[in-house]
Amino acid sequence: MLVGSMRSGAAIGRSVFDQSSPGFGWTTASGCLRFGVRGAAGPGHRQGAAISRHEVPTTVVNEFAGSFECLIILRKTRQPPVARVGTAVLPSVLATAPPVVIDWIFAAKGVHPSEAWSYPKVHVALTGATGFLGLRLVRELLGRHRSLTVLAHAGSSSALGRITRFLELTDASPELIAELPERLRVVETDLGQPRMGLSAADFERLADELDVIWHSAGNINLDDDLARLRRVNVEGTRNVLELAAAGCRRPIVNHVGTAFVGGARRDGVVYEDELDDTHGFENGYERSKYEAEVLVHEWSVAHGRPVLVLRPSILVTDLPAHPELPEHPLRFIDQILRAALSTVGLGGLHIPEGNRPVVRLPGQPHGHLNLMPVEHAARVMVQLANVKSSRRVDTYHVVHDHDVPTTTITAVMERLVPIKVELVEKRLLDPSPLEAVADLYPGFTPYLSHRRRFDDTRVRTVLGPELSGIRVDLDYLLAGVRPKQTTESSSWGR
Ligand SMILES: NC(=O)c1ccc[n+]([C@@H]2O[C@H](COP(=O)([O-])OP(=O)(O)OC[C@H]3O[C@@H](n4cnc5c(N)ncnc54)[C@H](OP(=O)(O)O)[C@@H]3O)[C@@H](O)[C@H]2O)c1
Repeated sequence: MLVGSMRSGAAIGRSVFDQSSPGFGWTTASGCLRFGVRGAAGPGHRQGAAISRHEVPTTVVNEFAGSFECLIILRKTRQPPVARVGTAVLPSVLATAPPVVIDWIFAAKGVHPSEAWSYPKVHVALTGATGFLGLRLVRELLGRHRSLTVLAHAGSSSALGRITRFLELTDASPELIAELPERLRVVETDLGQPRMGLSAADFERLADELDVIWHSAGNINLDDDLARLRRVNVEGTRNVLELAAAGCRRPIVNHVGTAFVGGARRDGVVYEDELDDTHGFENGYERSKYEAEVLVHEWSVAHGRPVLVLRPSILVTDLPAHPELPEHPLRFIDQILRAALSTVGLGGLHIPEGNRPVVRLPGQPHGHLNLMPVEHAARVMVQLANVKSSRRVDTYHVVHDHDVPTTTITAVMERLVPIKVELVEKRLLDPSPLEAVADLYPGFTPYLSHRRRFDDTRVRTVLGPELSGIRVDLDYLLAGVRPKQTTESSSWGR
């Protein structure tokens, strides 16, 4: 039996870790808790990451409860225990506790003290960790797990380097950045290949180590060739599911889908339990992601295993563009329009307001699109992963509480380049030379005609009506989509 003590700070703002005992310490600076444990076998102690106070209950506590038989005895300093609480009560205790000493008693057999982090001992792997979403998932997951296995894309540049750079550019703590080589294990894979390109022995060894697999890798090029899209999005998912099937610990699969499996349905409401192809698809990407979700359902039934399906809408950020970060999914708007103006000899010119060339695009002036801040999406996804599973496929729409009018998208275009955009009902039969080349890439243009809404009742039911508080408007979108050199108010360091 391991007994650790967790002391709260009379000394606010600094670690009060007790160097002499194999226990936990915490600091209450800025409302954060910080956990650490002294390794009985090694010198010194290790320090866990800061976890915001309100996040402790659903993450540490629930996962502890799943991993260890955990009893908490709460008592006032130097007083005998005044309360004995179960893990269900701990959230409210932590939320309101005055300086106290909390002793944790782990009746976990075989848990070595040096392994008894405040983080539960759950082995988590993640595909797509270097992507626009994946990097934010890594950040969230590192706040909850001691280590992560990154199933990186073989042949791409260093995944550890890219993750480190992202965390540096987004103001992660120096401690976290210094710990990355120790906390991240990189395994190079090609998801499109059988066994992810690993040898049979490596594939099985990897499978047997895992408790949770996050699958976020994908090909998000809406207009790519369907065979190429299927290779990563469908075959990649199949191979991830095979990894999960092979694992002796029966790892949970958290699959990142997309709300756009709703397909070419342009009006009405798309519900979280819907998955059909009756409306067809706007592009090959949607079709491939639909096929991947169908696979997930078939696998779940065949193996009797739960899967969490997380369906974000279009992911956006107001973090300014940076050459070392994955491209913002809407950056193509700027790139295509600039290239189009250059093609017709108007590139780089100052064109007075009244003389701007008109670009007519098929679309709905009363249409709207759901755009979800990627940082918030990652946070919601990781919270949903802590919700009790139905043991089947649980699907959630990870979407913003307000849609963005299509006219805001056209306003973004007009602010990026000197054109005037008009949304027209039908595809043009008589395009001007500029219109002929300025069509947004064909896979995206149909979204300017969308007026559907994504229902997210399930998310609100399990997480509460918590709103992102982030307003996705013209300024927000411009901040993330503008090329770096024209961004005056870069705000690196968030
Ligand atoms: N972005 C959005 O607006 C959006 C919206 C809804 C849903 N989603 C879904 O969210 C997930 C993540 O999207 P994202 O925006 O992060 O995409 P992304 O920025 O394009 O990142 C894709 C990730 O997948 C990896 N990858 C690609 N091909 C691979 C392969 N053959 N083997 C192993 N890894 C491979 C990439 O690694 P390298 O960088 O090393 O190539 C990268 O880490 C996808 O499943 C996507 O369908 C995205």
